[in-house]
Amino acid sequence: MTAPLRTGDPIIVDVALGARSYDIVIGRGLLASLGARLAALRPGAKIAVVSDETVAKLYLPPATAALQGAGLHGTAVVVPPGEGSKSFPAFERVCEELIAARIERGDLVVALGGGVVGDLAGFAAAVVRRGLDYVQVPTTLLAQVDSSVGGKTAIDSGHGKNLIGAFHQPILVIADTALLDTLPPREFRSGYAEVVKYGLLGDAAFFAWLETNWREVFAGGPAREHAIATSCRAKAAIVSRDERESGERALLNLGHTFGHALEAAAGFSARLLHGEAIALGMALAFEFSARRGLLPAAEAARVVRHLAAVGLPTHLSSVPGGLPEPDGLMQLIAQDKKVKRGKLTFILVRAVGDSFIAADIDAAEVRAFLAEKLRA
Ligand SMILES: NC(=O)c1ccc[n+]([C@@H]2O[C@H](COP(=O)([O-])OP(=O)(O)OC[C@H]3O[C@@H](n4cnc5c(N)ncnc54)[C@H](O)[C@@H]3O)[C@@H](O)[C@H]2O)c1
Ligand SMILES: [Zn+2]
Repeated sequence: MTAPLRTGDPIIVDVALGARSYDIVIGRGLLASLGARLAALRPGAKIAVVSDETVAKLYLPPATAALQGAGLHGTAVVVPPGEGSKSFPAFERVCEELIAARIERGDLVVALGGGVVGDLAGFAAAVVRRGLDYVQVPTTLLAQVDSSVGGKTAIDSGHGKNLIGAFHQPILVIADTALLDTLPPREFRSGYAEVVKYGLLGDAAFFAWLETNWREVFAGGPAREHAIATSCRAKAAIVSRDERESGERALLNLGHTFGHALEAAAGFSARLLHGEAIALGMALAFEFSARRGLLPAAEAARVVRHLAAVGLPTHLSSVPGGLPEPDGLMQLIAQDKKVKRGKLTFILVRAVGDSFIAADIDAAEVRAFLAEKLRA
């Protein structure tokens, strides 16, 4: 994926959270300004960059050069790539290395990587010395539009993903869209599912824009920055109204109840990436809504058409290795979400761009729907 280097001004999205407000800065080539931006925020701070081996090989040298160029110094902690690093051993190592490097309040932790590094470094920053400030420098599309924004941080438990964590907002997010040029295409596509999600859950015009402009988003033109900024604005607006997910923030889970069950069924493996599971989950949420008469079947078909056009999976039969029977999937759904007297909570839709929280969905109806889909 090549794209002309643009020197346009970065786009700034404000996450309005009172005293915890921060900017998301989005633009091509921003990594070179990392040092200047951090020095402006925290002159003389020590910097601890947390990254994974894959990202560090590509981007730790330019990040370090940018920091040193602005007179900032510190340390780097590099963990193995992959979900396995959202674990107690990796967490312990990051915490101990931050302490050994004498990173204190007033200094900064920088998460340079995808959602794994962001969640791990963010959680370490939340607890070391009872809370250090940190900056997100997301390097995957998923991290730029989703995980780096909103302050959820976590590692995994043997009992499930993201069960040990904290709400801890970053003080700045720097999304350099050029870093996505080295992302494997499958990872980019997977992150794109979350971009589509923002259109589907609350912005019909954005979804229509994506239908027309997705190729340029993938190719890395200015449309990429627009798509990322629009996604961040959507998430920031929801998070600023409901930081701790007592209500509206749950809309961000569109496609995620079905999706998480499919991810779990595939063993959280490379068989099905998160965004691929979410694409399937969003297709199912639209089809299930259509089945309930909430919207025309043609509207669900339109959503499926766009996801399929970019190469995301939309049929259960496309999950490699197959899926469990309906009862097996229902068990996975029940593990993910609390079932209250046979009722489940789902994010359903009345149209593209019009989602709502439905807290009273009959488990038997979901089972019948999944059985149909598995047969199809
Ligand atoms: N905190 C939140 O709100 C939130 C939201 C959504 C997801 N998440 C979490 O995010 C994680 C998934 O994040 P992810 O999809 O970014 O995965 P990831 O961090 O594992 O990155 C995916 C892969 O791409 C590589 N990579 C990253 N940037 C690259 C680049 N620029 N060029 C080449 N390779 C690169 C990584 O080394 C890794 O192998 C999950 O653990 C999930 O739970 C958190
Ligand atoms: Zn997601």
